[in-house]
Amino acid sequence: MHTNRFTRIGFILAAAGSAVGLGNIWKFPYITGENGGGVFVLIYLATVVFIGMSVFIGEVLLGSNAHKDAVSTFETLSPKKYKYWKYSGFTFLTGVLILSFYAVVVGWIFHYVVVAATALPSSVQEAENHFMNLLQKDIGTQIFYYTLAFFVIAYTISRGVKKGIETLNNILMPTLIVILAILLIYSVQLEGFSKALSFMFSPDFDKFDSSSLILAVGHAFFTLSLGMVTIVTYAASLDKGVNIVKASITIVIMDTLIAIVSGLIIFSILFSAGQEPGKGAGLVFITLPAVFFEMGSMGIFLAVAFFTALAFAAVTSAVSVLEPTVMYLVERKKMKRKKATYSVALIFYVVGLFALLSNTTEFSSFLTFGSKNVFDWFDFISAAILMPLGGILVAIFVGYIMDKEVSRKALVPHIGENLYQVWLFIMRFVAPLAIFLVMLNEMGVIQF
Ligand code: PFF
Repeated sequence: MHTNRFTRIGFILAAAGSAVGLGNIWKFPYITGENGGGVFVLIYLATVVFIGMSVFIGEVLLGSNAHKDAVSTFETLSPKKYKYWKYSGFTFLTGVLILSFYAVVVGWIFHYVVVAATALPSSVQEAENHFMNLLQKDIGTQIFYYTLAFFVIAYTISRGVKKGIETLNNILMPTLIVILAILLIYSVQLEGFSKALSFMFSPDFDKFDSSSLILAVGHAFFTLSLGMVTIVTYAASLDKGVNIVKASITIVIMDTLIAIVSGLIIFSILFSAGQEPGKGAGLVFITLPAVFFEMGSMGIFLAVAFFTALAFAAVTSAVSVLEPTVMYLVERKKMKRKKATYSVALIFYVVGLFALLSNTTEFSSFLTFGSKNVFDWFDFISAAILMPLGGILVAIFVGYIMDKEVSRKALVPHIGENLYQVWLFIMRFVAPLAIFLVMLNEMGVIQF
């Protein structure tokens, strides 16, 4: 066994750690709330199963075949005349760009673990004031927790795949699952639970529109960590002989279940307190803390558990976006892992500071360009342009450029010829087209 490679279960937990993040516990519930519940959940499930899972298997396939950094992976697997495809590997830069503002949010969450334990806001208004104050005025607190977040992430990566990433995920992921299970058991007993169930699972087809379809495709990519060679890179450190289809399906199921469970927990608590679902992005940072407060000491316990789960989910995702760049520097540029990690982390720490400061009243005017501040620009550039681009590149590479024998040999023994053809069809036609539409929609070129 290679000493710095994942075990099978280590890979499953690490890739699930990457997939399960803010996207599941924060974003999925609020976009479900904003999009009317049931129909959106249904569309989301369909896009995850058909498009998300196929591209996920494609990324695992690339990594586990080449066992190299992302650039070398594309280089090794492309036929001679397509050598320039190696540049697709540089989509790891999307990851570090995402890291720079994702870490800002990880910082907020760390802060909220402390708020949950010590001083929950006593009303929605107070909760809103607290959150706005943190973002717009309290630069010191934000930088403190942001720095802490970056340090935890960089330290983990500096220790390598086994000692760093695998150990972190082996501890945090099972703990996260236990916490969510406890929160779910609690939620089931709430009077709001049945309303949460029917809100999420009874589709009202009048609410179906193409914009939720596009949103679902985009979110399926984000939540499965696709389009920035994160999964390619993790799979490169996977030991040989693992059934990659089974591993991929397990990870996708874990990711989806955790999103659904998070939704059920949040909506049960919300409905029991008589709140509405469509509260937008402030759901977790504004509405929930106020609701927890009303529950007395039980609420403090639940709030600490909830924000700890969110912190664990976010850290394991943030770690995964740094690894592809570091692995590239270690393998191709022969840098020492520690040096590579801390140099990249320092650069993107500084980049992220601009995102952080762009939300503050003091600096926002210097750090707003056009209609968006730096934070929103980073979010927009990565989610609307770079991630979809990375997704399309993978789909086209696997579907058209790479020798079919590579994918056939890896997949047919597990799924058979017929399903393989279905998978190939999705990679060649459905996925690129769907992602392209997401890209146009997010860029505002077309509006669904
Ligand atoms: N999948 C993560 C989430 O749902 O929060 C976010 C993410 C992590 C996106 C890693 C992309 C990535 F490479």
